[in-house]
Amino acid sequence: MNWISYNQLAWTDTILARPEDFEVEATTYVNLIKTHLSASSPTMLHLGCGAGGHDYHFKQHFSVTGVDLSEGMLEIARSRNPEIQYLLGDMRTIRLGRKFDVVAIPDSIMYMCTLEDLSAALSNAAAHLKRDGVLLVVTHTKEEFRNNNFAYTGEADNTHITVLENNHIVSDTTYEATIVYLIRQSGRLEIHHEVHTLGLFSYDEWMGIFEGLNFKVELMNLDHLYDKYLLEDGVYKLKVFVGTLGV
Ligand SMILES: C[S@@+](CC[C@H](N)C(=O)[O-])C[C@H]1O[C@@H](n2cnc3c(N)ncnc32)[C@H](O)[C@@H]1O
Repeated sequence: MNWISYNQLAWTDTILARPEDFEVEATTYVNLIKTHLSASSPTMLHLGCGAGGHDYHFKQHFSVTGVDLSEGMLEIARSRNPEIQYLLGDMRTIRLGRKFDVVAIPDSIMYMCTLEDLSAALSNAAAHLKRDGVLLVVTHTKEEFRNNNFAYTGEADNTHITVLENNHIVSDTTYEATIVYLIRQSGRLEIHHEVHTLGLFSYDEWMGIFEGLNFKVELMNLDHLYDKYLLEDGVYKLKVFVGTLGV
């Protein structure tokens, strides 16, 4: 996919989502991973790493390799984290020929729209994980997901950006994220929009795939992290799966 959000408009991320904004979230993931990890200088494969906001914090704890499908996001990630190796690739199919202590998918697994895609991504994650490694996947389950709206805004160097995101369930297995960009540069307004199709899977479907891959999984709730961006009152429910490979 050649999403404008992650290519032509990827630069907006530098105004909307500064690396510091990821600190609380990334630290939460690091702490969860570390409760299961024994390696002393651990390596991490980050699938769907985007513009490197999480990596800015992950790199304090892990030697990170990032993979993403969008060159626009990778360009920003490379400038934010020059010490990290970033590779263009698809989490379902990329083969790096090496294994990692940690495989993390904190902000992109929703791009898997079918059970086959989800299964391919998680099985590829397992193939890149050392025997005593840790898998972290952040998602929402079909049971808990509700239609919602988010808003983000930021201003810098004569550029003022507001992004509205409408997430709406469109089928039994998918929802659409409709993203509207209002970009005002030196007073001149541009409006862009894009629709992303994203997947919804039940708790049993998630667990079925993990069990099939021989993962022993712990599940945690991670509600409230994104509540501040919600336009309506309420809770944005997120789940974190932390898995280790069975022997
Ligand atoms: C919400 S963004 C991640 C933002 C990230 N947290 C950051 O710090 O910028 C989701 C990312 O998933 C990537 N993505 C979607 N499908 C993918 C796939 N099949 N393989 C790898 N990356 C994928 C997109 O290109 C996008 O950069």
